[in-house]
Amino acid sequence: MINLDGITFGFAGDGPPVFDSFTWHVGKGEPWSVTGPSGCGKSTLLLLLAGLLKPQRGTVRIGGRPLQHPSGRTGLILQDYELLPWATVLENVMLGPRLQAGRPVPGRDAALAWLERLGIRDLARRYPREISGGQRQRAAIARTLLLEPELVLMDEPFSALDAANREALQQLTLDMCAERRITLIVVTHNVEEACLLGRHILLLAGMPNRHPDVISNPHAAGTAGAAGEAHAAACARLRERLREVL
Ligand SMILES: Nc1ncnc2c1ncn2[C@@H]1O[C@H](COP(=O)(O)OP(=O)(O)OP(=O)(O)O)[C@@H](O)[C@H]1O
Ligand SMILES: [Mg+2]
Repeated sequence: MINLDGITFGFAGDGPPVFDSFTWHVGKGEPWSVTGPSGCGKSTLLLLLAGLLKPQRGTVRIGGRPLQHPSGRTGLILQDYELLPWATVLENVMLGPRLQAGRPVPGRDAALAWLERLGIRDLARRYPREISGGQRQRAAIARTLLLEPELVLMDEPFSALDAANREALQQLTLDMCAERRITLIVVTHNVEEACLLGRHILLLAGMPNRHPDVISNPHAAGTAGAAGEAHAAACARLRERLREVL
């Protein structure tokens, strides 16, 4: 689904590149987490996958096609949710598809159905400033899913939420991606979250990143044995690996 072949990417300046001849593959419908120390290149990776940054060398292919420009089939959810302050929740959710030329615009009913699924249908007429951070995050997820994406990229999506909201939204995100075979890439600093969400965990070590360090995590949520000891053991292993790269 995602094929990075030998990509090299650096920001202008004389430091090392963020990625150097980096090759990484992700299968369709797989949930991945990406973690690593601050400044190691996690957000840069998402921007490369979204087509908002271009590698200096190598190719990025999404769904077999070389990525030339941002695709309507990829949803990118950033930490600040990017809701428009002057539009209601429903208008915000409907705006994403409207901005995409050449695609049929899903109707109001489809938007309301997503709001319902995310538990914020009652808030459809409110403005972003009138709802909580968790509710704004739900609206941002509804807006992305209304686009029927093949790939969803999330950058620290749940870090500002309280524990109950975080757990509910993590599970809802996994369920919705599994139902539609959406490939999910979540960047997170949080070890528990990385182990809960990612069936595979990409650990970025720092610059330059040359090889993907992939930890397989068969006990991620939605799989047998996700709870309890297996999850705790996965967290302990990931903490150990993070200490090694710091
Ligand atoms: N627009 C930019 N111009 C120049 N350098 C940048 C730019 N954006 C990021 N960088 C640098 O590239 C490196 C990777 O940044 P990136 O934002 O991908 O890190 P990150 O892993 O997401 O960190 P964090 O966990 O703190 O969000 C950092 O050294 C950063 O300073
Ligand atoms: Mg970042």
